[in-house]
Amino acid sequence: MGLKVLIVSVEVAPFAKVGGLADVAASLPKALRAMGHDARIVMPAYGKVLHETTEPVREVVKPFDTQVNPYWRARTTLHETSSDGVPVWLLNGVGLFEHIHTSEQIYSPNRDAYLFFSRAILAACEKAGWIPDIIHCNDWHTGFVPVMLRELAGPEWDETASVFTIHNLAYQGEFGQDTLDAAGLPQSLFTMDKLETFGGVNFIKSGCVYADQVNTVSPNYAKEITTEEYGFRQWGLMRDLDKLGRLRGILNGIDTDFFNPSTDKALTFNYSADDLTGKARCKETVQRELGLSTDPNVPLMSVISRLSDQKGFDQLIRTAYGILGLPAQWVVLAVGDPWAAGELHKLQAEWPDRFRFIERFDAPLAQRLYAGSDIFLMPSNFEPCGLGQLIAMRYGTVPMVRRTGGLADTVFDGENGFVYEHKDPRDMFDTITRAAKTFVTDKPKWNELVRTGMTTDFGWEERAQEYVKMYQDALLARKTAAKI
Ligand code: GLC
Repeated sequence: MGLKVLIVSVEVAPFAKVGGLADVAASLPKALRAMGHDARIVMPAYGKVLHETTEPVREVVKPFDTQVNPYWRARTTLHETSSDGVPVWLLNGVGLFEHIHTSEQIYSPNRDAYLFFSRAILAACEKAGWIPDIIHCNDWHTGFVPVMLRELAGPEWDETASVFTIHNLAYQGEFGQDTLDAAGLPQSLFTMDKLETFGGVNFIKSGCVYADQVNTVSPNYAKEITTEEYGFRQWGLMRDLDKLGRLRGILNGIDTDFFNPSTDKALTFNYSADDLTGKARCKETVQRELGLSTDPNVPLMSVISRLSDQKGFDQLIRTAYGILGLPAQWVVLAVGDPWAAGELHKLQAEWPDRFRFIERFDAPLAQRLYAGSDIFLMPSNFEPCGLGQLIAMRYGTVPMVRRTGGLADTVFDGENGFVYEHKDPRDMFDTITRAAKTFVTDKPKWNELVRTGMTTDFGWEERAQEYVKMYQDALLARKTAAKI
């Protein structure tokens, strides 16, 4: 019999997306349903979704009250829509999420909105008469769900296990000790083995301590976060979880129905590994669209990313003059850090014939760039998994990455991409040069790299099975705990 799995995430594609978390939160449940599990999603009911989605939306239960703490009872609504056959619950506390209409606003709610969301999930399941076997939480905003499940939920929840997925350890949700009062939890839980962290309360630690199983999104990042360099002050906890057999790495997949160059409707020309003519035309179209010269022999390099320290923009900007000295075209599609944006605008003003910076969220343009580019640059300083390199390879665009996190698990130098080792702009520059040179001078090698990437399976099927294994381990841990 299939498992009842509730996936909890504050971003879910296509409704509300900032980064890769949104894609994973949408595509993993789709794969689980294909395997016969009853997977559903719950997310905050942003105004953007509730009022703007083209999918039908229905009210699941009449509005009810959620008692978050003795001083706060929040009026709660629960609606349902769907995405590719997956039921998506939209949960709102009046005044908390409905004002959110753009991707930029998704992370504007405060701590208490997330505490409400966590508490209300349990109440909503009870009202709807659907108690899941597994609650699968993602990133710090959902860190208090496993805590409330164990500390506050009634006996009908005794057999429900929770798992927590770290998509990015850099964001932990750190607040003061008063978080416990705000969450309706007793101060007696403010101890190091439970909810205290460096004198305050930390959402990600709380989720990891209380969840029956924890994972991150690649095997290599699972190792890295047990070290001081990548552990963001939580490496001790990660080491403990690892020793207890409660930490693992499961590589992300991508939705290969959606990301498919032979059917993608965002492209004017479709293509496959057997016939790449359409790809050459996609390149020409995107070059024209961006006002770049349409020479097929000049490598088109792209970055589709968030402007943040994580993604290596510090390195790219420091090396920009070198990169722009290469006989190549370079396009950056990203929003985020204002300093990096300012620098990139300056570069565009200086190099209008070969550089474009497009500062906006634009999913269709992203698709056109994945298809039309030759080289995909991803020089991350750290990278839990990374989806960009997987999408790029699916579209026959060869990734150039730093050997870190999930990039090290998916891109192999000379096989399907170009890889460098150190956080060193020189190393990065040499590798970009090597990629551009291979494109221009060694077509047989290039075609081999392209085809290897395009024919590798990055789908969810196998990876979803690893999640099911983790769910089963979590249920087993729960049963054992219940006996004690
Ligand atoms: C975060 C990470 C990225 C990962 C994604 C989905 O955005 O930075 O590496 O691929 O989550 O798990």
